[in-house]
Amino acid sequence: MPQYFDPAPEGASRPGQVELALRDLGTTVTLRTDRGVFSGERIDPGTRVLVDHGPPVPPAGDLLDLGCGYGPLAVALALRSPSARVWAVDVNERAVALCARNADALGLGPERLRACAPDEVPEGLRFAGIWSNPPIRIGGDLLHQLLLDWLGRLDHGGRGALVVQRHLGADSLAAWLGGQGFVVERLAAKRGYRILGVGRR
Ligand SMILES: C[S@@+](CC[C@H](N)C(=O)[O-])C[C@H]1O[C@@H](n2cnc3c(N)ncnc32)[C@H](O)[C@@H]1O
Repeated sequence: MPQYFDPAPEGASRPGQVELALRDLGTTVTLRTDRGVFSGERIDPGTRVLVDHGPPVPPAGDLLDLGCGYGPLAVALALRSPSARVWAVDVNERAVALCARNADALGLGPERLRACAPDEVPEGLRFAGIWSNPPIRIGGDLLHQLLLDWLGRLDHGGRGALVVQRHLGADSLAAWLGGQGFVVERLAAKRGYRILGVGRR
């Protein structure tokens, strides 16, 4: 059964598009989507919650969208923080290509938004902010390792913001992260989703 996190989705391409409203900026952007990427038919409701109720975006520095899909969070970060550089990473090659194309269509060149495979991010880079609608469905152990790897790259003072569905384990994930030495707070609870704010101790 193909999954949205397959590196190379097998199904034939079926291009589509979705609208992403950024109410704070008074604008709506069009994003190209495709079959074989996460939530290609509509902006995922969890993503919507993070876009609408996420914390303020750091005004500068390197920011990360972990598991970018076709790029709604990465684009929101880049448009809200013109002086930052956004890294948008995903294992799904079709998603990375769409994200890069969506950024380019919005005039966000690679100096503002760089979509790439996770291992293309320079190792020493530290992030002022990490936003993610994380891939819960890859399974607990892989998810935990993924979050440890990337949240461990938050700069001192940097903050992560994760949106997780309550019934898919948001509260247990928060408790687990707390046990790993992160400071975790619930920033918002909306429509069955939690936004978890994560910082380093
Ligand atoms: C829940 S989706 C969110 C996609 C997009 N950010 C959105 O809001 O529409 C999670 C994404 O994580 C990606 N992913 C899965 N495993 C990953 C990994 N090890 N590293 C980076 N991304 C991964 C999936 O391919 C998927 O696109």
